Amino acid sequence: MPKTRILFVCLGNICRSPLAEAIFKHKIRAKKLAHLVEADSCGTANYHVGDTPDPRTIKNALKNGVVIDHLGRQLSARDLEAYDFIIAMDRSNHTNILRLSNATDHAHKIRLMRSFDINPSGDEVPDPYYGDEEGFQNVFEILSHSIDSFIEFLEKEHLKS
Ligand code: 4NP
Repeated sequence: MPKTRILFVCLGNICRSPLAEAIFKHKIRAKKLAHLVEADSCGTANYHVGDTPDPRTIKNALKNGVVIDHLGRQLSARDLEAYDFIIAMDRSNHTNILRLSNATDHAHKIRLMRSFDINPSGDEVPDPYYGDEEGFQNVFEILSHSIDSFIEFLEKEHLKS
């Protein structure tokens, strides 16, 4: 049984998507589902290829008990074939991912992160890059509960051991 493959995508791949990847892996390990699923993250832009995540993101994640281990990479057309779900942090990421796709049959697997949020106060994960710690903590909390619902969805529909 091949693993279900999840790709989290933001703009720079140093704040939101590496955090989403790390929270997702943390929760998947805690639920003992790591043999069924794998995850990575990337950016639509190439500004931070090879870079470690933003130090503010690393620090905030640690404060919340999550370790991030990732180096920046840019989304490629091949990712659209290779992954089962491509999870965009905001509408602009979503549009840019769709633009890279030349096949309409990719559209069903390209989703907004907050489309899984059961109690959404908005439809985007806001970019914390120009903000302060409060913004980073807000992003952590949005991602944490959106990912809880995303994992529930995967368990119901996709993760069969
Ligand atoms: P991210 O945040 O998309 O959540 O990684 C950003 C990081 C860097 C930049 C923009 C957004 N930047 O312009 O360098």
